Amino acid sequence: MRQPVRISPSILSADFARLGEEVRAVDRAGADYIHVDVMDGHYVPNITIGPMVVKALRPHTKKPLDVHLMIAPVDAYIPAFAEAGADIITVHPESGPHLHRSIQLIRQLGKKPGVSLNPGTPVEAVAEVLGEVDMVLVMSVNPGFGGQSFIASQLDKIGALRRRIDALGRKVDLSVDGGITPETAPRAIEAGADVLVAGTATFKGGEPAYAGNIRLLRGG
Ligand code: DX5
Ligand code: ZN
Repeated sequence: MRQPVRISPSILSADFARLGEEVRAVDRAGADYIHVDVMDGHYVPNITIGPMVVKALRPHTKKPLDVHLMIAPVDAYIPAFAEAGADIITVHPESGPHLHRSIQLIRQLGKKPGVSLNPGTPVEAVAEVLGEVDMVLVMSVNPGFGGQSFIASQLDKIGALRRRIDALGRKVDLSVDGGITPETAPRAIEAGADVLVAGTATFKGGEPAYAGNIRLLRGG
């Protein structure tokens, strides 16, 4: 089921020395979710933050914390992110031996499970769990860094997932993550995405620009 377009700023592009203020600023500026990129230097070639930072950010916003786990093996850390206050917890099929078990664990902890596909990961890798998740996150860059260019071949994948989600007849967010700008956002939306993750495009220009940046991504 297609839902209104929502914007999930990735705090990867925020000022890490002022993360709480940055989260409050994008919340005020109209963010629908707050996207938190967790990287381990193993599954992806970068290291960011862990559950302690998610816990520290939790009091700064009532918006859902959309926590994107790029760590492997992932299962042992899921409870800590749930306890820290994550609302949506997204995992990659490559990040654990049993994708379905990871999703079951997130659900058992009372959180919304998501599943993410890298640019090289086919739709079939998540086909068996589509009925179990609340979000499908299509990576339109290879995971690890902000500020990369949108990989246009992922638009077809978004379209294929849109059709599968519509056939399910239940609400599943179809999110796109990486290289989202006011130019690429309409293409992702047209292909079927209804959540746009944006780091660089949200945080550029500093706090006075955030509300305008988010409005532009939503379509003006
Ligand atoms: C990349 C992350 C993205 C990233 C997007 O691994 O998953 O969320 O922060 O950054 P931009 O919007 O700058 O491409
Ligand atoms: Zn992300």
